[in-house]
Amino acid sequence: MVEPPRLHNPTPDRAATCSPVAIKRRGSPARSTDTCPPAAEMVPTTSLLLLLGLALLAPGLSADQPQCVLTGNWTNDLGSNMTIGKLSNGEFAGTYHTAVTTTKKEIKISPLVGTQHSNTQPTFGFTVNWNFTDSTTVFTGQCFVDEHGKETLKTMWLLRSHVDSIEDDWKATMVGTNTFTRLHTHLE
Ligand code: BTN
Repeated sequence: MVEPPRLHNPTPDRAATCSPVAIKRRGSPARSTDTCPPAAEMVPTTSLLLLLGLALLAPGLSADQPQCVLTGNWTNDLGSNMTIGKLSNGEFAGTYHTAVTTTKKEIKISPLVGTQHSNTQPTFGFTVNWNFTDSTTVFTGQCFVDEHGKETLKTMWLLRSHVDSIEDDWKATMVGTNTFTRLHTHLE
């Protein structure tokens, strides 16, 4: 039987011409036409695109932010926030906005500098040089990723306050822990 002439379409819609429906209408479900790939060949491309989309939308992931690189915004169990800039040779700088203080002074956003390893679930350390008072805090910790991709920084800190004399040294250092989670304000 002679096949009826096809409608002229200089740029045919690929979805229409190569969809399973279109393929079926031509009476060839497995391999459609010379110009259409077989249905089986189309599936991997669709799946790959779907996987890529899911990966980009997954918590803690974005196009250019691998997990447990500290770059980004974090908040802790006290309500303090910190922002860490880009990593350079394992070193970073950022700012720390503490929610609490041992002083009666007005809290100001203060600078921090630190380093981190580049392996999985890396350890790191950073120092906050408080600019509204003459104390210093050092944090050390490790980044963990759970099965949902959520990053948690478990840290311990030492807060050294300034004292007027060596006799007061015994009471100059506080110790504590903080847990940080990432703030997802936008895709970084
Ligand atoms: C000070 O009060 O001397 C300066 C601010 C200290 C804030 C401390 S650092 C450890 C703990 N974690 C925080 O987020 N804030 C407090």
